[in-house]
Amino acid sequence: MTNDQRPDFAGNTKENDMNKLVLLFACIAVAASAWYVLQPDADQTSIVAAPPLAAGAMVAVSLPAQLTEQEQMGNRAYDATCAACHGINAQGQDGIAPPLVHRIYEPSHHGDMAFVLAAQNGVRAHHWNFGNMPAVEGVTKADVLNIVAYVRALQRENGIN
Ligand code: HEC
Repeated sequence: MTNDQRPDFAGNTKENDMNKLVLLFACIAVAASAWYVLQPDADQTSIVAAPPLAAGAMVAVSLPAQLTEQEQMGNRAYDATCAACHGINAQGQDGIAPPLVHRIYEPSHHGDMAFVLAAQNGVRAHHWNFGNMPAVEGVTKADVLNIVAYVRALQRENGIN
C-alpha cells in the first residue's frame, strides 16, 4: 500500500464531517420519533383532543351530540344563508368572514337581537378586516332566531356561554 492509498485522516474534509453529523442527527430524529410514537399515552383518557381544523376554518368546532328541533331548523337555515361566509359549523372562513363560535359573539356581547339586526341590515366591519356583511335577503326574523338557537348550541358545546 502506498502512502497515497492510505486513509488520510487529515484529508477528512469538513464536508465529510458535516455529512456524518447530518446522518447522526437523522438517526436521532428517527429514534426519537419512534420512541414518541410508541409511548403509551397516559393522558389520552383525561384530555379531550381538540378536533382537527378543517380547511379554511378559523377555529376548531366540536359538534353537540344532538340538536333540538329548533336548533336543527336553525342549522338548515344557517347552512342555506350564512355558511357561505361564516363557514360550515360557524367555524369562520379564512379571508371571508369570522367564526360565530367565538368569544366575541357570546350572548353577553352579541345578544340574539344582534343576529337579527345583522341579517336584516348587514354589519359595518368593526371587529375584523373582512369588510362589511351585506344584509341577508330571504330570511325572516323567526329564521334568524332559529339560527341563533343553533349557533348558541355550538357555542355552548365549545365552552362559550
Ligand atoms: C357575504 C358574507 C356574509 C354572509 C352571507 C353572512 N355574514 Fe355575518 N358577517 C360577515 C362579516 C364579514 C362579518 C364581520 C363584520 C365585522 O368586522 O365585525 C359578519 C358579522 C356577523 C355578526 C356580528 C354582528 C355584530 O354586531 O358585530 C353576526 C351576528 C352575523 N354576522 C350573523 C350572520 C348570520 C346569522 C348570517 C346568515 C343569516 C350571516 N351573518 C351571513 C359576513 C357575512
